[in-house]
Amino acid sequence: MSDPGRQAVRDAVSAWCAAQAKPAPFEPGLTPVPVSGKVVGETERLAMVEAALDGWLTTGRFNEAFEKRLADWFGLPHAITVNSGSSANLVAVSSLFSPRLGPAAIQPGDEIITVAAGFPTTVNPILQNGAIPVFVDVRPGTYDIDAAALAGALGPRSRAVVLAHTLGNPFDLAAVMDFCARHDLWLIEDCCDALGSRYRLPDDASDWRPRLPTADDPRRWSLAEAPEPERHVGTFGHLATVSFYPAHHITMGEGGAVLTFDMALRRIAESFRDWGRDCWCAPGCDNTCGKRFDWQLGGLPRGYDHKYTYAHLGYNLKISDMQAACALAQMDRLPGFVAARKANFAHLSARLADCADALQLPFATPGSTPSWFGFPITLRPEAGLNRVDLLQWLDQHRIATRLLFAGNLTRQPYLQGKTFRVAGSLEQTDRIMNDTFWIGVWPGLTIDMLDYAADQIRVFLGRDFD
Ligand SMILES: Cc1ncc(COP(=O)(O)O)c(C=O)c1O
Repeated sequence: MSDPGRQAVRDAVSAWCAAQAKPAPFEPGLTPVPVSGKVVGETERLAMVEAALDGWLTTGRFNEAFEKRLADWFGLPHAITVNSGSSANLVAVSSLFSPRLGPAAIQPGDEIITVAAGFPTTVNPILQNGAIPVFVDVRPGTYDIDAAALAGALGPRSRAVVLAHTLGNPFDLAAVMDFCARHDLWLIEDCCDALGSRYRLPDDASDWRPRLPTADDPRRWSLAEAPEPERHVGTFGHLATVSFYPAHHITMGEGGAVLTFDMALRRIAESFRDWGRDCWCAPGCDNTCGKRFDWQLGGLPRGYDHKYTYAHLGYNLKISDMQAACALAQMDRLPGFVAARKANFAHLSARLADCADALQLPFATPGSTPSWFGFPITLRPEAGLNRVDLLQWLDQHRIATRLLFAGNLTRQPYLQGKTFRVAGSLEQTDRIMNDTFWIGVWPGLTIDMLDYAADQIRVFLGRDFD
């Protein structure tokens, strides 16, 4: 926009950015080595200021551009933004309960298969919608669902599988998609920690794709266009979610998105996001459907304004245009961020490879190329190490650590007394709860920081280092 006033503001923002002090050189033991963080600079600040000067404030032109850019990145037709990754999961799971899905809709009391080693808000929307989570164990090293245990989790009321790609490592999509297809289950991929991770289906499974209920017979499944066998995670399930919290691969402060290849699911998800309304007009628009005063829905009189007609028990989970502007600017950096995360992970793997007798080191799920969120480590029982001692040692050296989120969700206080089912044992999940932690691989870390983190782990183990 050629607007001298705006240009003056832009110049002032650029001058302010240029005047910011460069980060001090890394001082081992003094400079913090965070697990995660944001990398934002002049472009994000300029974009946010631009959106602020628009004065539009709610979801607007930046959001429209960002949703399109994000969908294109995934190679999907639909991305809708929400105000967090948790909200994205809430919208995605709630959407599968929509009456618009007819007999394919999940009902309260139905079961949804998931894992307990993860983040609570992957699972919470199952309970919030009155369904029953069924927890299956995970595998060491990859931290994904033990697909061999899926069959034992199946029951007459199983309706869906909801799983996260833990710390960026894709779950065994080939096995999970096959299981979902054979048992007519919905699949939601929580990609909050996995933006940019890729997965290749086996060649003989190149036409495996999520199946959708058709409008005339929701239990008869129609096939979408055959997609590429190797693609981004988030394109395999019926719905997928991402988070844009500052710790994540790109950020807008608080934020998230729901992705799908299907227009009907998009409309349902949008409705849950936008108060539950039936109308799908963008903010500030009227009569997108062309029959705003010509619907007759529910028990309302014909012609009741479509803008105030509600199809779902909805929420308001929209974002502001300043948030969208920040994330739009971050999209230019995304390929670099993904490359940095992979390189940092590879560096730590190499530096710790000879400690594999004491530490279970992480590795990519077969068929996958992860865009890692963190570097998970599990202490081997035979090493006789104490996790608290190690984490305190790292903390003293200013190296931040995190646990694998809730560890074993079934042991968290808030799940006591709630209705859930455990299929088989959660032995590995308990192991994660007791012996796993992770350190950072985010793009803000330097090689010196990564080396220092690896060295301090080595010192704790009594190993040599350069
Ligand atoms: C796997 C997973 N799902 C969902 C979320 C929630 O995302 P948000 O913090 O944006 O609500 C997180 C948070 O880190 C996560 O790790």
